[in-house]
Order: sequence, then C-alpha cells, then structure tokens
Amino acid sequence: MKDFELKLLTKEVTELARTIGHSIKQETAKIKDQDVVEKGKSNFVTYVDKAAEETIVEKLRSLFPEAGFLTEEKTAQEKKDYMWIIDPLDGTTNFIHGVPLFSVSIALQRKGETIAGVVYEPNLDECFYAWEGSKAYLNDKELEVSDSDNLADSLIATGFPYSKDQKLKNYMSLLQDLLESSHGVRRLGSAAVDLVYVAAGRYEAFYEYGLNPWDIAAGAFIVQQAGGKVTDFKGGSNYADGKEIVATNAAMHNELMKKVQKHMSS
Ligand code: IPD
Ligand code: CA
Ligand code: CA
Repeated sequence: MKDFELKLLTKEVTELARTIGHSIKQETAKIKDQDVVEKGKSNFVTYVDKAAEETIVEKLRSLFPEAGFLTEEKTAQEKKDYMWIIDPLDGTTNFIHGVPLFSVSIALQRKGETIAGVVYEPNLDECFYAWEGSKAYLNDKELEVSDSDNLADSLIATGFPYSKDQKLKNYMSLLQDLLESSHGVRRLGSAAVDLVYVAAGRYEAFYEYGLNPWDIAAGAFIVQQAGGKVTDFKGGSNYADGKEIVATNAAMHNELMKKVQKHMSS
C-alpha cells in the first residue's frame, strides 16, 4: 500500500470511529441492567459493543477488502497478512455505569506490525490517530510525548485486570511504590485512552497486565509515533500478545522499568 493510500485510509477510519463513537454515546442513557451480560468475571458486554463492532467490520471490509479481522466480540475472525484489530468499545464498565470515558479503538497491521491506529473518545470529542511514517495527531493537532525524565514529577496511569490472579499482590506493591514516588496514579478505565494520553503528554506513562491486542494495538502505535516507548514488563517487544505493557514518554522508561521489574519479576 502506498503512503498516500494509507494516509487516506487512516482518515476514513477516523471518520468511522467518530460515527461509531457518537452512536455509542447516544446509547449511554438507554442502557438497562438487563442489557448487560457478564462474559467473564467482572467482564461485561452489551448489545452496543456488538452492534458497534458489526458496523465497524462491515465498513472496514468495504474500505479495504484485503484485510482480515481480530476483534474483541468475535463478530468477524479471519487471518490474513493485513489485519484490522478492533475494540469497538474500550471502557464497557464505565459505559454501563454512565461514566463518560470510553473509546473506539481500531488498528491496521501488516504481518503483525501496526501501520495505522485510531482511538476516538466521544465524550470529549477527541480523535487520536497516526499511520506508518506519520506524526501522531489529536483531531488536527500534532502530538508529542512529554519530556519529563523524572518519575517524581510524573503522572502515571494504570488499569486492573478482570481476573484477579496471584500477580495482583505484586501489582499492588508496584502501585503503592508509584503512588509514593510520583505525582499520582490514575485509573480511567479505558486502556486505549490511557495510551493516547501518554502520546498527548498528559501522562508520562501507562502500565497494565492482562490486556489483549485489541485494547492496545492502536494506542501503543500512537504512543510510538508521538515519540514514546512501549515494551513488555521485561523491556522486550512482546507487549501485544504478552499481556504486559509499559508505555512511556521514553525519557523515563528506564526509571519506571526498574520499579516494574523490582515488583513484578518475583
Ligand atoms: C478494558 C479497559 C480497562 C482495562 C481492562 C480492559 P473493555 O477493556 O481497557 O481500562 O483495565 O483490562 O479489558 O473490556 O472495556 O473493552
Ligand atoms: Ca478493551
Ligand atoms: Ca471492549
């Protein structure tokens, strides 16, 4: 695919994410308890997640028929060299409780490498995007990560996995350490938004474990295009399938990694 084609495709995907984001937002007031299905422990899904995904898949199929799909709600599953990685509604728990913070996350990969990413947050009308070789953007504005190289002056974001396993104890000691050694730790409830806030310089870093490729593919790419660094908890590149991610402004990656490894490697 040529550069300009990828740029145009990314722009089309931003329009799609905006449309879907607005329709999800319209549903916020209509969601009832009986619309919420628990697909795993504390892991919820609604007709809104599924309908959004179906519409996204249909539109992406017409925009770029060569690509397959990896999607959270499994309304389409096809393996090809080009793949759309989709989370139609990242932040379902917020959504069902009426908390106005959730997003639509869509990435395009070529042979496992992300080449475009779009994250749209409808409540603030913020669309974050980037494509291979581009800068990262928020609406029409170019983004850059923050240049703070000091954990003590940093604001960090995290999230907590649905399955509470034996790692959680270590994770809590990491959280306490970071609460004591930074400006604070936030938990917004949408990993895709957490990531793009790192790209925008709002947070210096984000870390979480137990995430899936659809939670992070678009956001991690946007962080990198904004000048940030993304690794797994060991400092390697297996953050998409490895279910461990640390995304930072790059300047404070090493300092944060020392804390992550101190608490999470035992
Ligand atoms: C969740 C959100 C949340 C994170 C969870 C994710 P979902 O995605 O990204 O911030 O902490 O681990 O599963 O289920 O709302 O799409
Ligand atoms: Ca998600
Ligand atoms: Ca989701």
